[in-house]
Amino acid sequence: MSRSAHPAGPRHADVLPEGHYTAPPTDLNALDSKVWAQTVTRTTDGVVSVGSIDVKKLAEEFGTPAYFIDEADFRARARAWRTAFGDDADVFYAGKAFLSRAVVRWLHEEGLNLDVCSAGELATALSAGMPAERIAFHGNNKSTAEITEAISSGVGRIVLDSFQEIVRVAHIAESLGKRQRVQIRVTVGVEAHTHEFIATAHEDQKFGIGLADGQAAEAVRRALALDGLELIGIHSHIGSQIFDMAGFEVAARRVVKLLAEIRDEHGVELPEIDLGGGLGIAYTSEDDPSEPHEIAKALHEIVTRECESAKLRTPRISVEPGRAIVGPTAFTLYEVGTIKPLDGLRTYVSVDGGMSDNIRTALYDAEYTVSLVSRVSDAEPMLVRVVGKHCESGDIVVRDAFLPADLAPGDLIAVPATGAYCRSMASNYNHALRPPVVAVRDGEARVIVRRETEEDLLRLDVG
Ligand code: LLP
Repeated sequence: MSRSAHPAGPRHADVLPEGHYTAPPTDLNALDSKVWAQTVTRTTDGVVSVGSIDVKKLAEEFGTPAYFIDEADFRARARAWRTAFGDDADVFYAGKAFLSRAVVRWLHEEGLNLDVCSAGELATALSAGMPAERIAFHGNNKSTAEITEAISSGVGRIVLDSFQEIVRVAHIAESLGKRQRVQIRVTVGVEAHTHEFIATAHEDQKFGIGLADGQAAEAVRRALALDGLELIGIHSHIGSQIFDMAGFEVAARRVVKLLAEIRDEHGVELPEIDLGGGLGIAYTSEDDPSEPHEIAKALHEIVTRECESAKLRTPRISVEPGRAIVGPTAFTLYEVGTIKPLDGLRTYVSVDGGMSDNIRTALYDAEYTVSLVSRVSDAEPMLVRVVGKHCESGDIVVRDAFLPADLAPGDLIAVPATGAYCRSMASNYNHALRPPVVAVRDGEARVIVRRETEEDLLRLDVG
């Protein structure tokens, strides 16, 4: 590991260019527990560890880039959601955030259910022993094969997303001699305060069936008339990375209103409502997410109050957190490569991964932090942009952050809060090999998703 001298680049707040940062942090070696997984700490020799194993050892054994997931933290967060919602509600972990067989087993053991949205996610869940009745199947364009597989394997519910699908699912269920439990996903017309690409309850988008224009009521009419379907409830998912509970409250109120209208029109009280996922996590110290028990309390209160005023039995509530469970439990470990100081601007720090292992910065302008984790440093803060090794200038992992000015090639840096939507959205761009996911717990580390190899790439290339 050579430590080459290089100009440190801009350092002082008064000469810093425009960016998404405030002042440099007072202590660059400190690890904010808001953004790091629970067992992450700095050992006495200054190296960061997770699950009692230091990152230098982890890098030696598993290489970089790699995602390290704190299993104890994952289980604790899953349990916290389960406990907060109690026995009269269900927590469905949203597999799209990150799914592997180990994760399915952890969820099963912690008493959570699972939301899947493709045949691949369903196969992963079933192969790891998640009971089919604890699985919900989602998606705005489920294929006939997916619907058939979901129904034949006995999934607990299919969330219907369009008029065509209502008919399609009913027919397939009937042809299999089954009656499928279903929910109807409605768009409640809430403008969630999040990035446009991850807001899902305003009317002009591809998910769900509109509530305001009476379409949802019509969907209910049609579903109730079909023998192949058992309509058990209404589903709403307003978006993702949301901090403000107001959107969920409006959604809950509108869904309960629909339940009352259904009761009045059909004499049926649907027993369940699903309020989706979307709760935000801390990516930086500025983010302030709510705790599961606060969220559970708020949702229970609003649903109970609305049901009392509509003289409805309170339905069973379910929620679908993905990011809020897995997001904070993992970090990505990179080795520093080329360091390029640009005078008067910032220093570009290249790592051995990039947009292939974290597309969120390029796609949503997501903000992350980064820390030097293989040693401590008392050097001055240096404004950096952490970039990947891909052939694209938008290949940015952390847009604006501070690292010590003595940073050198061979140092290990880590980006926290990468448990959700990083490995699950990873790509092979530039034929990058997707990094492994390593679970660490009580001094033991084991690969739960292995690193891709060139052999894997070539095996797919059959031309
Ligand atoms: N339920 C449904 C129906 C969903 O569509 C989603 C996420 C969730 C639950 C879980 O949402 P969460 O609790 O994880 O926010 N790739 C984007 C996020 C897309 C979310 C898609 N649906 C990102 O990286 O921010």
